Amino acid sequence: MSDLLELAVAVAREAGDMLLAERPARPAAVATKSSATDVVTELDRASEELIRARILGARPGDAFLGEEGGSTAGGRVRWIVDPIDGTVNFMYGLPDWAVSIAVEVDGALVAGAVNVAPRGELFAAARGRGAELLRDGRPAERLSCNTGVPLPAALIATGFGYLPERRAVQAEVLARVLPRVRDIRRGGSCAVDLCSVAAGRVDGYYERGPQEWDFAAGGLVAAEAGARLGGLRGRPSGPALTLCAAPGLFEELHDLLVPLDPERDA
Ligand code: IPD
Ligand code: CA
Ligand code: CA
Ligand code: CA
Repeated sequence: MSDLLELAVAVAREAGDMLLAERPARPAAVATKSSATDVVTELDRASEELIRARILGARPGDAFLGEEGGSTAGGRVRWIVDPIDGTVNFMYGLPDWAVSIAVEVDGALVAGAVNVAPRGELFAAARGRGAELLRDGRPAERLSCNTGVPLPAALIATGFGYLPERRAVQAEVLARVLPRVRDIRRGGSCAVDLCSVAAGRVDGYYERGPQEWDFAAGGLVAAEAGARLGGLRGRPSGPALTLCAAPGLFEELHDLLVPLDPERDA
């Protein structure tokens, strides 16, 4: 493992352990952000503080972007962190939430770790070196996404943003996608959804609205497991649209989504 991946994995593990130990029976929302449904708990903030302290403690000159704390400028290495991806699942005691840590050098992602702590699963990837699943800290599986799945047989994960007007468009798009695929899953964590593509637990994923901290680490895990990651019309993945599936299904899903124009509220 490279030094950067090793640090990402170690810190994602420490933050996940802290969250499992400190999580009260019913974590409360302490604030709302973009809308009434966009919540943050004390532990989202504590997790980000821990991650920031560990990473910048080890590498004081690096840049850092976290969902809850914003960005700190730095050198060629930048860390992209979601301290809890899936806060609503975390609040309700559902097991799909994760600590997501990605790291880029000169603007290119080189490593990512997604610690799905309640499941004891940690997904890790380094650019050009593949992706793996560690279970309870031990390497358990090299990851490869499902291939050769046609759209009507595809299980597709998606997610919804927090803005009511965006959700109205997402519901319309979903109504058109659902009859064309095997089924839809809304797991509640973008990072976990992308790792699920990598592990072949779903065939593809699309969402309008995810931010860099949501998809950076999971996107690298999926790409290193053989999936294609991108947006519509040749754009990179981003808040406008993040789409991920094996080549072939990616294009089918893309062509289904383009005329529905999920970006029209951009
Ligand atoms: C959210 C989750 C969710 C996705 C939202 C994200 P958060 O992140 O990834 O699955 O649908 O777009 O904002 O707020 O739980 O970190
Ligand atoms: Ca959030
Ligand atoms: Ca998130
Ligand atoms: Ca978050």
